[in-house]
Amino acid sequence: MRKEVELASLEDTKKLAKELVKLAKPGVFFLMSGYLGAGKTTLTKSLLKELGVEESVTSPTFVIMNQYDNGSLNINHMDAYRLTKNDDLYLYLETPEQDFNIIEWYDNVDFDYDNYKNYKINITKTGDTTRLVTIESRD
Ligand SMILES: Nc1ncnc2c1ncn2[C@@H]1O[C@H](COP(=O)(O)OP(=O)(O)OP(=O)(O)O)[C@@H](O)[C@H]1O
Ligand SMILES: [Mg+2]
Repeated sequence: MRKEVELASLEDTKKLAKELVKLAKPGVFFLMSGYLGAGKTTLTKSLLKELGVEESVTSPTFVIMNQYDNGSLNINHMDAYRLTKNDDLYLYLETPEQDFNIIEWYDNVDFDYDNYKNYKINITKTGDTTRLVTIESRD
């Protein structure tokens, strides 16, 4: 599956989160890419809101990973920006097969994401509030 979505505003990003949240299940990875400020964390915040997470969501750039629980699902929000190919994601992710995992800058680390159901979500900034998003999965 490959899909392209044009977003005109933050409102559209929220709408996209409403669609994407249907794919949030145990063992699933959302693999986010796109340059600094593209909107990976912003989209993640909307996803977590849709999942019913009420606490405030902050970028995990410095802490590497934040965990949330909506009562039925554990959600790992990770930012691999400061990690390298020598880092092992399993030091952070304890039960990825049971959790819903969102990884920003996923390509910075070597990890066999294809062992899990994954969706690659790339965001390109095309203007102040406009974005081009591509969503890809293997089936
Ligand atoms: N349609 C939009 N979707 C997402 N973000 C938008 C949109 N329009 C404007 N923005 C703004 O763009 C910025 C995106 O920043 P954000 O922290 O989400 O980027 P990021 O991709 O996570 O960057 P980093 O690589 O530094 O983690 C925010 O200030 C957000 O308000
Ligand atoms: Mg971010």
